[in-house]
Amino acid sequence: MRAAVYHRFGPPDVLRVVDDAPPPPDRPGAARVRVRAAALNPKDVLLRKGKLRRMPGRRLRERWPRIPGVDFAGEVVAAPPGSDLTPGQAVYGMIQGWQEGACAAQAVVPADQLAPAPAGLSLVEAAALPLAALTALQALRDLIRLRPGERVAINGASGGVGSYAVQLAAAMGAEVVAVCSGRNVERVRDLGAAEVIDYTAADPLAPAAPYDAFFDVFGNRPYADARRALRPADREGAPYVTTVPSPRALLDELRGRLPGPLAGPARLVIVRSGRADLEELSRRVAAGTLRPVIDRVLPLDRIVEGHRHLETKRARGKVVVEIG
Ligand SMILES: NC(=O)c1ccc[n+]([C@@H]2O[C@H](COP(=O)([O-])OP(=O)(O)OC[C@H]3O[C@@H](n4cnc5c(N)ncnc54)[C@H](OP(=O)(O)O)[C@@H]3O)[C@@H](O)[C@H]2O)c1
Repeated sequence: MRAAVYHRFGPPDVLRVVDDAPPPPDRPGAARVRVRAAALNPKDVLLRKGKLRRMPGRRLRERWPRIPGVDFAGEVVAAPPGSDLTPGQAVYGMIQGWQEGACAAQAVVPADQLAPAPAGLSLVEAAALPLAALTALQALRDLIRLRPGERVAINGASGGVGSYAVQLAAAMGAEVVAVCSGRNVERVRDLGAAEVIDYTAADPLAPAAPYDAFFDVFGNRPYADARRALRPADREGAPYVTTVPSPRALLDELRGRLPGPLAGPARLVIVRSGRADLEELSRRVAAGTLRPVIDRVLPLDRIVEGHRHLETKRARGKVVVEIG
């Protein structure tokens, strides 16, 4: 089958596109999907570089070549017994954990890591949602527990996760303060930001009014700094969430998991795939409160270019590759 593969960890050009990759073997409880589009994520870059090979539970021993990619949209080829999925059905999802394999003509994905694709979206648009939008949803809804009327800052508002965080937070009734560079100000306003701070011109941690919550999507504003911009308040959820598992963030996360009043204020989001949350995204798409944000669409042949672009940390929304 046609697939992007890599035979060793390294820079973007370790990626090759081949026509004779063996299709992935069937697995119990998994659906076989004809992948039409796959979105790229910073996680793909970390996996490709080998940065995650020592993470606990990682079973990387060493199935080479590897096929990159975790976000996909396509059609069911074969569904596992007992599943309500049907051959030909359009689905989308995110491959969980340290597994990859989305950037290929076929992927075999546990049935609970995909859902029917949102009605009204192309498969390219559907592929642009899962990992980034699930991260934003789970951070805002489950960790921050954002409430209507709260003032929330989204740092890194124009990237993959940020573009969805702005939309979701606005739809949750929050007053969204988006933090990005000057060139993206109009884009994030268009996504629903009430206020935009260009971090090249002003300090987002010295805001006009304090925040109820701070979502550090980009990962360069640790809680120790962000706390000065937060309103002291007795809220149910965490006032601070980051995406980047620095040693400090991991320690904060352990404290954050303590019960009741002992719980620390800072949390680390660790995105989880799941049908219920994918269906939640689809409902929001149908309601018109969430739309895919796509920086560029490239053919699979140009996946190296896609990885290079992601590594600039300047993507505006998602980079999607079309498998054909
Ligand atoms: N823990 C998890 O489960 C999880 C899940 C998803 C993502 N992540 C992590 O979250 C981070 C963001 O992911 P992503 O997909 O949103 O990445 P991305 O799409 O590559 O983010 C690109 C954006 O970063 C912004 N940016 C660059 N420098 C910045 C700065 N100094 N301050 C604020 N924003 C800046 C850029 O906006 P400007 O050009 O306007 O600066 C650009 O739009 C990554 O580190 C990723 O690994 C973690």
